Amino acid sequence: MAKDFSTMEDSNRSANADIHRVSDPARRLWLQGGLGALAAGALSPLLAGCATAPFDGPLLGFKPVPVTDQDTMVVPEGYEAVAIAAWGEPVGVPGNMPAWRMDAGNSAADQAVQMGMHHDGIHYLPLDGSRRGLLVMNHEYTDDGLLHTDGMKTWSAEKVRKAQAAHGMSVIEIELKDGRWQMVRPSKYARRFTTYTPFAVSGPAAGHALMQTAADPAGRTVLGTLNNCGTGITPWGTVLSGEENFAFYFDGPDAPSADQRRWGLRKTGFYRWPEHDERFDAKRHPNEFHRFGWIVEIDPFDPASTPVKRSALGRAAHEGATVAVTQDGRAVVYSGEDARFEYIYKFVSRDKIAPGGAKANATLLDHGTLYVARFDADGSGRWLPLVAGQGPLTAANGFADQGAVLIKSRQASDRLGATRMDRPEWLAVDQKGKTVYCTLTNNSNRGAKDMPGPDAANPRANNVMGQIIQWTEDGDFDSASFRWKHLMLAGDPANERPEARGNIKGDIFACPDGLAMDARGVLWIQTDAHASQMYKGEMKGFGNNQMLACDRTTGEVRRFFTGPVNCEVTGATLTPDLRTMFINIQHPGETASDRSDPANPSKFSNWPDYSPGGRPRSATVVIRKKDGGVIGT
Ligand code: FEO
Ligand code: CA
Ligand code: CA
Ligand code: CA
Repeated sequence: MAKDFSTMEDSNRSANADIHRVSDPARRLWLQGGLGALAAGALSPLLAGCATAPFDGPLLGFKPVPVTDQDTMVVPEGYEAVAIAAWGEPVGVPGNMPAWRMDAGNSAADQAVQMGMHHDGIHYLPLDGSRRGLLVMNHEYTDDGLLHTDGMKTWSAEKVRKAQAAHGMSVIEIELKDGRWQMVRPSKYARRFTTYTPFAVSGPAAGHALMQTAADPAGRTVLGTLNNCGTGITPWGTVLSGEENFAFYFDGPDAPSADQRRWGLRKTGFYRWPEHDERFDAKRHPNEFHRFGWIVEIDPFDPASTPVKRSALGRAAHEGATVAVTQDGRAVVYSGEDARFEYIYKFVSRDKIAPGGAKANATLLDHGTLYVARFDADGSGRWLPLVAGQGPLTAANGFADQGAVLIKSRQASDRLGATRMDRPEWLAVDQKGKTVYCTLTNNSNRGAKDMPGPDAANPRANNVMGQIIQWTEDGDFDSASFRWKHLMLAGDPANERPEARGNIKGDIFACPDGLAMDARGVLWIQTDAHASQMYKGEMKGFGNNQMLACDRTTGEVRRFFTGPVNCEVTGATLTPDLRTMFINIQHPGETASDRSDPANPSKFSNWPDYSPGGRPRSATVVIRKKDGGVIGT
């Protein structure tokens, strides 16, 4: 792919000044956390679907694309897709922009200022409307077979440091110049968050005895974030990111405690970090394990800001976090836990969103109530509060205070009798309809020996296809109850294999993961069937992972995009004018074991560079209509 260097103009302008230059008044109010706009329902195109779309014509106007197994991107006629900001590209930190090396020869220090590996959730935040903005994104994990020139043949402290630098998040500046979106480098906003960036802990678990370690006796500062999966944006202009399956990074004792087992801690983790970083050896530092699994909040407009782990939102294998706003202006954060038989949560802030952006709302997510969902068979549902001292959440049961409830959210949810779901991934909110959609990606253990069987919300045993569930809150987003149903069960209604059948109306897909609603109300669905499922034959007929658009009024699903071989399609975000969409392609060429062969790195995919002997790279993809029209029409 082409290099896209350019220089930034006006580098002295402050982030606040940029916000005031935003041309769209609703957009400007949104970035400022303007209550007037929120009360009127004039929310950002990025935050919520709205029925008052300013565009005529059918919701889905494009010609669908077929499934494919080719190592390339396919978009509908009249559209184009271009990869930018691939793993290893310098993010644009002034004076520190080491060039990418295709042999993966970059050092750990290089990697710390380059795009991380395995792009995931992504959001566009305008600096100048739909012409210039920030992209904030997650880098979920590393494939160490690709990350290092000789893969994992040898293992060293430098390799661990590089892997930690390839995790986390990136903030990059981009602009539409000469008809192409390009990275702005250098940029004063360019920033990486890695597994050793200091994060403050806030909320009830800050300073808790279970959060204190030898290196941080106060229990208030954690080095790093990891396994960041989905993202969300807030009405006050910050980005939320979920720390997902953190347990794999730790080595545990020979016989982990019941509490440790409940969180999946095993004697030996997956990433081999503890061999060179004792912080991830839970035998030596058992509380370090409690310091991951949080929702983090970052302010991309202030490069000097300290990112925060928001403990009031609970600890979980958080996929991401999606924000809704109550009629009276309080923030509601929905989050799913991507693990088999785990939970869906919502947090309702105590206070109202204040005008004045991030600084004015610096503690908003520290005070409020966390709930976990119970889906009842009659189509009703309850939000069960996770509050110390209420119901079974007593000191005698291991919940002496609110910090303990939040650190042990899973155990608390078990006690409350919440519904154990089929791997909740992304959520999308219809702000006006008070309706929330959630992908449940799959769960092949449903109904297996000694495992929970099907229930109303998770109705299929050996669920290899997944489903999308939706609920409408009774009244406002702070309601204690809701009505739910399935938007659809993924799978091909005509498939000969019973486990592959679903009830999709339109183009088929499997394993929904990414989910986003645009301002016209189109629901964008992205898929993540794993390479191991492909090789088992479970995905026969479904092709490479893909993105589809759903018209909720008719239920029709139409395929819009297919990705390269063994990738996952994730994160969908649009410019305010809806004429550019950014998505991420994660782990092209993924192996069934997630550890590639360094001797043959392009065995499955060589996207996007197609460089001889090169290696596949996760990257951001810019999708535009060639006539400059609105995406999806
Ligand atoms: Fe990281 Fe839940 O996919
Ligand atoms: Ca995901
Ligand atoms: Ca997934
Ligand atoms: Ca994945």
